Amino acid sequence: MTKKRRIAVLTGGGDCPGLNAVIRAVVKTAVAGELEVLGVTNGFAGLVEDWFRPLGDAEVSGILPRGGTILGTTNRDNPFHYPVENGGVCAYRDESERVLANLKRHNVEGLIVIGGDGSLKIATLLSAKGIPLVGVPKTIDNDIPHTERTFGFDTAAMVATEALDRLHTTAESHHRVMVLEVMGRYAGWIALHAGIAGGAHCILIPEIPYELAKVAEHVRQRAAKGKPFSIVVVAEGAKPVGGALTIARRVEGSFESIRLGGIGEKLAGQLEDMTGMEARCTVLGHVQRGGTPTSYDRVLSTRYGVAAVEAYLRGERGVMVALQENRIVTVPLSCVADQPSNVPVEGELVRVARSVGVVFGNE
Ligand code: F6P
Repeated sequence: MTKKRRIAVLTGGGDCPGLNAVIRAVVKTAVAGELEVLGVTNGFAGLVEDWFRPLGDAEVSGILPRGGTILGTTNRDNPFHYPVENGGVCAYRDESERVLANLKRHNVEGLIVIGGDGSLKIATLLSAKGIPLVGVPKTIDNDIPHTERTFGFDTAAMVATEALDRLHTTAESHHRVMVLEVMGRYAGWIALHAGIAGGAHCILIPEIPYELAKVAEHVRQRAAKGKPFSIVVVAEGAKPVGGALTIARRVEGSFESIRLGGIGEKLAGQLEDMTGMEARCTVLGHVQRGGTPTSYDRVLSTRYGVAAVEAYLRGERGVMVALQENRIVTVPLSCVADQPSNVPVEGELVRVARSVGVVFGNE
């Protein structure tokens, strides 16, 4: 029997619904053919620290609907800027040579990296070092360029939509302004999709800086017309015209150290002061990233996993699988560094929202 070629798969950055579905598709497609697969534990840290384990049909059985990642992940560890302790002092060093040595030791000829923009930028650097590599775009934020969808987004938007449905009943019963803060980093995709699907009255996104007075006026006008309640969805990266981002914390060592958060609470207080109506804030947080993926995300994750292995077997290197016009294609991995995918301010979805009466705070 001929010896099989070997690849490894890792998940990097924040967890996201659909990671396990991608891992499963990668493993099933690979082992059915001429490859065997090792899983790397805890993302890029595992590549440096030599944390590898075999993945076969048994290991991926039953994981399709499971949230999180069976491999573990971290959003701090970058092999090119890796924390090394020396005499009780932590310093950052380029440890990428350790990655090459570990891959060689395990006879791993190539890598599938499942990650968001930070992880895929690291993957681009590893690819430039000669590691045959295919990337898979993951993030609930849907902000990776050159792909119409990242897996995980649909689930996050669905969770936020369900939350809005529930907030509606409280808003109506208590005559309150209910503010829902959702994730998305510097992109307003989750807020926009959930806001439209959940019938929000105001949607505040990073791409359209808002004027507080206009948001308050809309809330007041609704009350004057006999609707003394309003639902406001605010993306964590939204900011007022001329104002700054609301930052919750900084995570040292993370590829992108800023963590956004807090705009919802601020906004609820301001709206209460300006309208005289009781206003409450709900921060959805990591609930959007946890749990089982929607069927759309399961299908997309499976398509991506299969396509990543197929691209690898075709000899494509340094590429990312992507969705364009609902077809799976590959694009150069280095494209991840291009302008992130943001909500087009003049796009159809914003126009549709405005047509059904949604206010973005700039009109
Ligand atoms: O990129 C995914 C994401 O959930 C963003 O929407 C959010 O800003 C960030 O990650 C939160 O990161 P952490 O899990 O480190 O708090």
